Amino acid sequence: MEQRDKWATKLGLILAMAGNAIGLGNFWRFPYQLASNGGGAFMIPYLFALFFLGIPVMWIEWTIGRYGGKYGHGTLGPMFYLMSRESLKPKSALWFGVLGGLLGFSVSSLLSSYYYQIIGWSAAYTWYSLTGAYFGQDTYKFFVGYISNTSAVLFFWALTMVLLGIAVGQGVSKGIERWVKVMMPALYVFAIILVVRALTLGSPVKPEWSAIGGLSYIWTPNFSALSKNFFKIALAAAGQIFFTLSLGMGIIHNYASYLGPEDDVALSGLATVSLNEFAEVILGGSLAIPIAFAYLGPEKAIKSGVGLAYMSLPNVFMHMPAGRIFGAFWFLLLWFAGFTSAIATYNYLVAMLEEDVHIDRKKGTWMVFVWLFILGLPIALDKTLLVLTDMDMWVGSYFLVLLGFFDIVVGLWLFKPDNFWEELHKGAFINVPGWFKPIMLYIAPIYMLILLAGNTWNYAKGGVFTLSQAYMQDLVKNQALVSTTIGYAKHAVTVARGMIFIVIIIGAIEAYLAIKKKYGEELEKNEVIIKL
Ligand code: PFF
Repeated sequence: MEQRDKWATKLGLILAMAGNAIGLGNFWRFPYQLASNGGGAFMIPYLFALFFLGIPVMWIEWTIGRYGGKYGHGTLGPMFYLMSRESLKPKSALWFGVLGGLLGFSVSSLLSSYYYQIIGWSAAYTWYSLTGAYFGQDTYKFFVGYISNTSAVLFFWALTMVLLGIAVGQGVSKGIERWVKVMMPALYVFAIILVVRALTLGSPVKPEWSAIGGLSYIWTPNFSALSKNFFKIALAAAGQIFFTLSLGMGIIHNYASYLGPEDDVALSGLATVSLNEFAEVILGGSLAIPIAFAYLGPEKAIKSGVGLAYMSLPNVFMHMPAGRIFGAFWFLLLWFAGFTSAIATYNYLVAMLEEDVHIDRKKGTWMVFVWLFILGLPIALDKTLLVLTDMDMWVGSYFLVLLGFFDIVVGLWLFKPDNFWEELHKGAFINVPGWFKPIMLYIAPIYMLILLAGNTWNYAKGGVFTLSQAYMQDLVKNQALVSTTIGYAKHAVTVARGMIFIVIIIGAIEAYLAIKKKYGEELEKNEVIIKL
């Protein structure tokens, strides 16, 4: 077997994993989820989900990934197959492999199709901040103007993709690791400068508005708001934990597959969680919301929703001394954060080509480029952003939890709890306390089943499956960026779901063929042969 690439240094690995987790989820998604779910009400189920889902699933994914890497695999299909064989005959294990493969491939492909666009917006807005392009203008209209300007959207998106291609094309230790070693420290510097600025803003517009007011909105536990909307807030909080920690995506597994078989996963997994949560709760929490509180007042800040980062904050920068510079820092922060996450989904797809079809990395990188360009095009051309909205609803909140659930089914139950525990502790720098085992075995999966059921129930009730009249009207009235018709919205939703369907089918076929090719002999005999 040819030598697999490996992380060159411990620091590089930790920065890469932190870069993977710290993304737009921390600085763009977290603040608006927090603001629109009651601030201090959101933080309670958020911290709960961090402990009962985030930490356990992070450990499981590191462990599965390192195990797969031992056999030369960086993708979920073969990883799930290999682990399921501990309890099942190869022929049955194959189906878990196919399931893992299709989920990993779908999430990496579909998430990238819209996430890379948002990174492109950040690149554009860094430029527009430096040049002061939106200064003195209505920032909502400016944003709509940008999204409607197809050539600008395509340019900044393609620029981002080309740079991603260059980084990934250079490989894991010579490419990804080197890029994150520069970008991650820079990201922390940008964030800290901005936090200091945010917290020293005072009350520049009205004496009763201040950044500190924003902090107290976040940090005052609000049980009554939580109890009124318990299920909705708890779902949103758990969804955020999955998204921000890059769980249920296949990309933590993929990065962990470049470890040596005895490299620590227990402490490193915990370090990934800690670095991400510091960047999310402390840095992410002290930026968008407090700044918006000081300049726009609590009401507008809370109502900003998805537009907080790209529409509300530009409105602030144009009135702030040295606003061009601070604006550029903010969008560069988003760009760096998004970029170091996007490298991971990109690498997942390249690894698949490399390992399953033996295409060399350089060639594979440009094939993935074309694939992601095709998938992203319908989103880039859609001025209403409804394709993106529908896609995110499925991929961002449903698929992640589904994949996380099967992580436990395969990595713990089928692989067998004792094997898992031993594997988690191989070369470990810390001991995970024994009482954590039942959390991983029972509490986390039940928690996920409840989330899946709750989501399904909400979608069914809201007419999301049947595209009810009420749902379509909501899309047109409240969710579309620009005014549109029901006919167009239906078309957009159909495109999104059609893409999801096609990608799932391709993912399933790919995983089936790849596992058959590599493990054909033992599948034929239906007895385990290849074992390390
Ligand atoms: N944890 C990442 C974030 O918070 O933004 C999630 C992510 C999304 C990673 C999309 C990679 C990606 F392509």
